[in-house]
Amino acid sequence: MIVLGIESSCDETAAAVVDGYDRVLSSVIASQVDAHRPYGGVVPELASRMHVEAITPVVTRAMDKAGLLIQDIDGVAATRGPGLVGALLVGFSFAKAFAWARHLPFAGVNHLEAHIHSLLLTRPAPEFPFIALVVSGGHTNIYHVFSDNRFELMGQTRDDAAGEAFDKVAKTLGLGYPGGPGIEALAKKGDPGDIVFPRSLLEKGSFDFSFSGLKSAVARYVHEHPLQSHEDKARVAAAFQSAVIDVVCEKLLAAARSRSCRQIGISGGVAANQTLVAALTRRAARHRIRVMAPPVSLCGDNAAMVAARGAVMIRDGQTCGLDHDVFSRALNLSA
Ligand code: KG4
Ligand code: ZN
Repeated sequence: MIVLGIESSCDETAAAVVDGYDRVLSSVIASQVDAHRPYGGVVPELASRMHVEAITPVVTRAMDKAGLLIQDIDGVAATRGPGLVGALLVGFSFAKAFAWARHLPFAGVNHLEAHIHSLLLTRPAPEFPFIALVVSGGHTNIYHVFSDNRFELMGQTRDDAAGEAFDKVAKTLGLGYPGGPGIEALAKKGDPGDIVFPRSLLEKGSFDFSFSGLKSAVARYVHEHPLQSHEDKARVAAAFQSAVIDVVCEKLLAAARSRSCRQIGISGGVAANQTLVAALTRRAARHRIRVMAPPVSLCGDNAAMVAARGAVMIRDGQTCGLDHDVFSRALNLSA
């Protein structure tokens, strides 16, 4: 089955064609990040308008790169939520119209489940069951993944997502948006042990996260110790990143041990952080647990993960009608 997937939940307009559930024939991403950078974050109205401009050329390029014609497509998938409603509507409506015109099955994909599925596009892919962390600008969720269509949410952030904390701390340090890559690069020049920021682990046995205290601790530190040099900023970046890494490693290893899983996958924009992936890989190896992260092109928002997740939903009859709408918040994972 060949599925066309579309992603437009935030600031990337993306289209991809997937054969089966894990063979990516093409994946095209038009990023709006340069347009939002001057505002220090994503401007929803600007995002919607840019999706409208990009959607047709991006889908056309994805079809061309796959070397396919419209009549070769067997199913259509698009991100249904969570995300910015105006942005979601562009890709979702485009996909709905495409499916309706061609009489094709249509899947409305949960963005977080698509990030989980990006692990199944990774080589070697994790074997079921495994623990997955979806860690992005909007979410820090731990799942127990039983199969390609069955997941249990074990924990999530109670306040800021990890990526959001990276972005806010980057702002405090005067770095650009998005903040993750800038913090990671700067942290390489600082000693993570020079400053100790709090590691919030919450109650014993909880797999939830809380990053707002860490973010405030960084802001307080910078207020009390004005940054005089590039070295000062590097020390703060390294100490902050090290606190995030410690908490993420601790929670993931505890989750894996509690479910007797020998494999952990991490996906989402923050999974592009190679320092995090290396630290987790090292610590997990001590418990004989293997860590997998997708290539950077599949960590951030992309449509290959949406198409592949949609293919599974179509296989299992979980399709959408023309009356289905997008949703902004992940109230019900399988809605
Ligand atoms: O998955 P994604 O592209 O979009 C959302 O669904 O949110 O994730 C974007 C987030 C941003 O917060 C960005 O700062 C973070 O991923 N990010 C990183 C890195 N690259 C991107 N965070 C830490 N280190 C990185 N190298
Ligand atoms: Zn995402």
